[in-house]
Amino acid sequence: MSGFKRLLIILVSFGIVLTVAAGGGFLWVYSGAKVSTAGRGTFRNQLAVPPLAKSSVGPDGTRVFDLRMQAGETEFTAGQKTPTWGFNGSYLGPTLRAQRGEKVRIRVSNTLDEASTVHWHGMRLPAAMDGGPHQLVAPGATWSPHWKIDQQAATLWYHPHPHGETEDHVQRGLAGMFILDDAKSLGLGLPDTYGVNDLPLIVQDVKFDGARFDHGHGLLQTVGFLGDRTMVNGTLDPYRVVGDELVRLRLLNASSARTYDFGFDDDREFSLIATDGGLLEKAAPMNRIQLSPGERAEIVVRVRPGERTVLRSYPLSIGQDFYNQRFNGGDDTFDVLELRAQKRLRHSPALPATLEKPEIPDGSHAARGRFFNLQVTGINGRPMSMGRIDGTVTRGATEIWTVRNTNGMPHNFHVHGVQFRVLSVNGHAPEPALRGAKDTVFLPDRTTVKLAIRFDGPADPNAPYMYHCHLLYHEDQGMMGQFVVVDKGQRAGRPSAVHAHQGH
Ligand code: C2O
Ligand code: CU
Ligand code: CU
Repeated sequence: MSGFKRLLIILVSFGIVLTVAAGGGFLWVYSGAKVSTAGRGTFRNQLAVPPLAKSSVGPDGTRVFDLRMQAGETEFTAGQKTPTWGFNGSYLGPTLRAQRGEKVRIRVSNTLDEASTVHWHGMRLPAAMDGGPHQLVAPGATWSPHWKIDQQAATLWYHPHPHGETEDHVQRGLAGMFILDDAKSLGLGLPDTYGVNDLPLIVQDVKFDGARFDHGHGLLQTVGFLGDRTMVNGTLDPYRVVGDELVRLRLLNASSARTYDFGFDDDREFSLIATDGGLLEKAAPMNRIQLSPGERAEIVVRVRPGERTVLRSYPLSIGQDFYNQRFNGGDDTFDVLELRAQKRLRHSPALPATLEKPEIPDGSHAARGRFFNLQVTGINGRPMSMGRIDGTVTRGATEIWTVRNTNGMPHNFHVHGVQFRVLSVNGHAPEPALRGAKDTVFLPDRTTVKLAIRFDGPADPNAPYMYHCHLLYHEDQGMMGQFVVVDKGQRAGRPSAVHAHQGH
């Protein structure tokens, strides 16, 4: 054999070995990327239910709440102390609850050693009270936003929103629910005993490195952080004993980047009664409900005496390619919560035939349209800038917003200060789960949604509202823009310089 031939053979075999090794390595990474906690049956901790926040009603009729952002430690697993942040406690926060027509004031004090904000996600309120990146609360300071609750009963939530730091602050534990009631919602006979047959479920995916959280992003995860297990209301492996035939679950996806497709382990049907912004016109029967980060759903499920059933998150389609399916969480399965029904159950009245008509525009008489192209590098090609107003909207006007994702990874789209109607998804009428009031909508790759939005909050040319991708890493990276609501003929002003609120 000539030296040349020998060299060729060596080179070729070396190439084959490399290819096989790379292929094997890829397979190893590929199969390792899929996560499942299904069927492990380790529901050993009783689900914690966040306490209802105490409030007092002042002489002018304003309901006043106190929220204190604080650092602490939480034992998610007995004996293991995890450093965490929370509101009025070490992890998450109390559930705020108020009724339509009430005036509320929240005294937010920051005892952390860095500035943060508290945003009221889904709330219709003046932009200056919104708690977005412009309303920073300095360490040691208190910020006291106040507004009148003027929207339908709904499951909203609150969380920090400091520009570039939102993922970190939420993951450390700053998040809570804000439940709104109105005369209609209280009179429908829905399960509404908080913590008994009406359960708040704050779902987050987490990862631990010993006692500490591991918040690292996987190299191949373009969505940001994905955990390898889930937690509800800060409880790992949770179960809850229920004593009523019908149980209402208020699901909140408070995760950083993970989208869930909730259902039960026996595929039983449940009724979707409310979306982000409130009740549906009619309860919608289904056996899966998909929630991307920031979205909420209220479902009512029937349990049989003495049974156990598991709320599970199933694999879902988050892109039309294997990459997103595998590396961005689409193939994962999680057992989220076990419901344990008592042997004797209290009788529950049947759900009413009709619930409530959502107060959202139908898209007719729209004043104008706008277009939003979603890219991780910025919406419409521009990353978020605190000093730039991207849109000026006339108070009271309805607009059609077309949002498109062709970015090769999943995103979602959230708008502050409003509840909107999804008019279409890729040109088709939306499925039942998207027919109610929404403030956040999921956009897997190659999706276009049209939204009808009416901006009836008060005008303020200097205080912007945000719109952004609610995958928190993307938001932090600058997938966010700002708009102001102005009176007819008024021009946008300048967002006030970022300043920390001192004192009261
Ligand atoms: Cu839930 Cu702008 O956020
Ligand atoms: Cu929001
Ligand atoms: Cu995104």
